Amino acid sequence: MIRNQWYAVLDSKEVPKKGIVSFMRLGEKLAFWRDKDNKIACIFDKCCHRGASISAGKIINGHPQCPFHGFEYDKTGKVVVIPANGKNTTVPPRYKVNSYIAKEKYGLIWIFWGEKKENLPPIPFFEDLKSNFYYSQIKDHWPMHYTRCIENQMDVVHVPFVHHNTIGKGGKTLVYGPKVKWDNNKLTWYVKNLVDDGKTKAKSAKEMEDEKDLFSLEIIMPNIWHNIIADKVRVFAAFAPIDDENTMIYLRFYQSFMPIWGIRQIIGFFGKLYSKIILNQDKRVVVTQLPKYTTMKMDEKLIAGDRPIAEFRKKNEQLINENNT
Ligand code: FES
Ligand SMILES: [Fe+2]
Repeated sequence: MIRNQWYAVLDSKEVPKKGIVSFMRLGEKLAFWRDKDNKIACIFDKCCHRGASISAGKIINGHPQCPFHGFEYDKTGKVVVIPANGKNTTVPPRYKVNSYIAKEKYGLIWIFWGEKKENLPPIPFFEDLKSNFYYSQIKDHWPMHYTRCIENQMDVVHVPFVHHNTIGKGGKTLVYGPKVKWDNNKLTWYVKNLVDDGKTKAKSAKEMEDEKDLFSLEIIMPNIWHNIIADKVRVFAAFAPIDDENTMIYLRFYQSFMPIWGIRQIIGFFGKLYSKIILNQDKRVVVTQLPKYTTMKMDEKLIAGDRPIAEFRKKNEQLINENNT
């Protein structure tokens, strides 16, 4: 996993208005709650006293209280009260747990997984989806590293095989390009697949038509993906790393053509149902891939059509080298 990045880790609704909840994310057991201004806080969910789960306790005056001996924490992870020592006794600074800067945006909870810096980069999101869209969502646990999950959604070669009776109907096995374009940490790739008549040769990215005439998809590093199905229909996914061998996928069906309450819920229901069918087709195959993660140098023989995946691996490695020192 790349340090010093904003990771989408939860859906907003998973952190209730009151109380404290625990989730395994980025290989760590984390506790989340909302302060009195509804702002999200995130600290390690293991009491520094004797290891109990802080989230098994309750919130007292805006502070989580460990259920075992009552230590109270603030949102930076510092212990502010040790009841056995008395409320009037100052707590030495060594009584603390780690914490992350956490924010809520676009209906998701994000943590900045890295050093707490003054000037953090903005939370990454797809410009188009910031307004006018309605979405419905499913979440699904996949037993592999998030790199495998995100690469599956970047794979333009698998569609006529894995999805032969759904989005890949028609047997368009021949892959042009794909064209790829980086804009900082956002990668867009442009796709054209067609039926192989045995005479047509696959075109290289340079020979392909203008980008505006092609179907496109995007990712923003490290963990969000966007499928531009049509101007007003999109699919989005956040791949929240649980640990090195598990990922929680938040998959959203977005549409902006139907604003009427009631009808848009029905569209959302069928949109997410269809997305779930597609996702399950992917999952059946991806669970069989070994190893459960990907790296820049590994024993896989990529082909021209895998260009987006190769680009992702290269960028991932570059960001790890820059940030994981
Ligand atoms: S284990 Fe948490 S207060 Fe003792
Ligand atoms: Fe797929």
